[in-house]
Amino acid sequence: MMEIIKVTSYEEMSKTAADYIIRKVRQHRDATLGLATGSTPVGTYKRLIEDHRCNKTSYKNVTTFNLDEYIGLSGENPQSYRYFMDSVLFNHLDIQKENTFVPNGTLEDLREECRNYESKLKNHGGIDLQILGIGNNGHIGFNEPGTPFSSITHIVDLADSTIKANARFFNTIEEVPTQAITMGISTIMQSREILLLASGEAKADAIQKLLGNGVNEHFPASILKNHPNVKVIADEAALSAS
Ligand code: GLP
Repeated sequence: MMEIIKVTSYEEMSKTAADYIIRKVRQHRDATLGLATGSTPVGTYKRLIEDHRCNKTSYKNVTTFNLDEYIGLSGENPQSYRYFMDSVLFNHLDIQKENTFVPNGTLEDLREECRNYESKLKNHGGIDLQILGIGNNGHIGFNEPGTPFSSITHIVDLADSTIKANARFFNTIEEVPTQAITMGISTIMQSREILLLASGEAKADAIQKLLGNGVNEHFPASILKNHPNVKVIADEAALSAS
C-alpha cells in the first residue's frame, strides 16, 4: 500500500520525513536505516542533526546502509556517496562509523563487494526504514529502467539521463562515473518500511507515473505499489502533474 502525504514545500517534506525517522530511532534505538543520497534528503538530514543537538536523539546503536555508490570513486573523493554521507550526516551524529555501510566502488573484485554488501545487510536483519528519492526516469537507488524486479545488489551502467542529471555535482560531465553499485530492487523491497521523498516540479512527471496505473520494469519505482508499507512524502510542485 502506498500512502501519499501531501506537503506544501521542501521544508515541510524535510520536517515530515525527519520527524518520522526520529520517532523510529527513539522507539528502536538499534534501528537499521536505509539511506539515500541526492539533493532531496539533504534537508531531512539537516533536521536529524538539529534534533540530535537539541533533543539528544542518539544514533549510537543505529546501523545504516546506503543505497548506492559510484564505481571508481574512493571515500576521500568529495563526489563519492561515502564522502557525501559523512559530511552531510554521519560526522554530525553520535553514530559509530563502523556501523555506517556504503558500497565500496574501488575494490578490485566489485562482484564480490556486491555479494558481501547483500549478505552484510541480511546478517544484520534487514532494513527497518528505507529512505528513497526518485530519479526523473523512475530510478530508485541506481536501478535504471529495465532492471529486473528480482535484482539484488549489483553493478549498473548509468543511463545517459542520470549522468546528465548528476553532472551538476561535478566540474564536467566527463567526470561523472558511468557505473555504480546499487542495492537491487528486490533488496529495496525487503525493507520493512519505505519513505519516498519528492520535491519540486522537476519530479512532477516521475510522481505522476509513480501514482499512475501499472507496475512495470520500465519504471522501476512502480514496484513500490506492491510493498505493504510505503509512504510518499511529496510537495505540491512534485504532485502538480498528478
Ligand atoms: C541519484 C541517486 C538516487 C536519487 C536520485 C535523485 O541518481 N542515486 O538515489 O534518488 O539521483 O536525486 P535528487 O534527489 O538529487 O533529485
